[in-house]
Amino acid sequence: MSGKSAVQLINVTKKISGKTIVDHLTFDIYRGEIFGLLGPNGAGKTTTIRMLVGLMSITEGEIFIQGKNISSDFKAAIQHVGGIVENPELYPFLTGYQNLVHFANMTQGVSKERIQEVATLVNLEKRLKDKVKTYSLGMRQRLGIAQALLHKPSVLILDEPTNGLDPAGIRELRDYIRKLSQEEKVAVIVSSHLLTEMELMCDRIAVINQGKLIEVKNLKEFIQGSSENVFTFFEVDDLNKAKEIITEAFSDIQVFEARNGMEIKTSRKNIALINSELNRKGIQVYGIYSQKISLEDKFLEITRGDHHVKTNS
Ligand SMILES: Nc1ncnc2c1ncn2[C@@H]1O[C@H](COP(=O)(O)OP(=O)(O)O)[C@@H](O)[C@H]1O
Ligand SMILES: [Mg+2]
Repeated sequence: MSGKSAVQLINVTKKISGKTIVDHLTFDIYRGEIFGLLGPNGAGKTTTIRMLVGLMSITEGEIFIQGKNISSDFKAAIQHVGGIVENPELYPFLTGYQNLVHFANMTQGVSKERIQEVATLVNLEKRLKDKVKTYSLGMRQRLGIAQALLHKPSVLILDEPTNGLDPAGIRELRDYIRKLSQEEKVAVIVSSHLLTEMELMCDRIAVINQGKLIEVKNLKEFIQGSSENVFTFFEVDDLNKAKEIITEAFSDIQVFEARNGMEIKTSRKNIALINSELNRKGIQVYGIYSQKISLEDKFLEITRGDHHVKTNS
């Protein structure tokens, strides 16, 4: 991750009538990356986004956009942001082009060329002359994004952009978001409550739950992190002795009782080491099998609010 952050959240907190909705969120987002806010409904994603686009005040903490403080230097900060919170505001009785012109007129310095450029970017150039009421939901979504991009923001924020889209629409969205981040070096922030969508769309994911940041991970790390498997050792000569040996030799590995033997949660390469250590101490194991922990299990585990969740409190 090189260069300075496009967006920086430092201990961002939102309280509404005494209730903490967003709880000390701290993370950075860089140009050219697609950053996902992942969390179950009510996690605080929309509230966070509302603060990012200046629709809501921040109770505590700071947000910087391209180094500008969104509270104390609002104008300078917000000029870098384009966003859609909930639904894009469009006039169905106007054509796509007329909609873009309308919004261009509300912003300083947007040229005719830029209107064409954003339309091409979201692949709507051939439908610009048609009225928006004839557009599919996906096309409206794209027109909304084109509109949000008119003033060349370096940060694009989309709240649950896949809501209501069919699989083809979701795929299209993914493709042009990717294009935007690569060709215009935009920092794209998308939120969703669906893990599989985030997996396909994002470079990094912040998992939030009950307003708190659970973890920020590179998608690669996220998958690798969760590819730690549970291994079951069964038909073990002397189960109690085996457990003792493992705990002694591998202090960081935990062993759990299982119905037919013992369960060990660790990486694949440790399993070979554990088995040879047991053999060396005269314990034979006749069966080992692995159970993959899926990303989904991992997500459920970290968002269920049970004891696995790392909180700041
Ligand atoms: N204006 C508000 N007043 C009171 N509570 C709110 C307000 N906005 C959001 N909330 C509460 O904050 C929590 C987070 O909401 P939200 O940010 O919309 O979550 P998400 O977008 O992740 O589903 C929810 O429990 C919601 O009911
Ligand atoms: Mg929401």
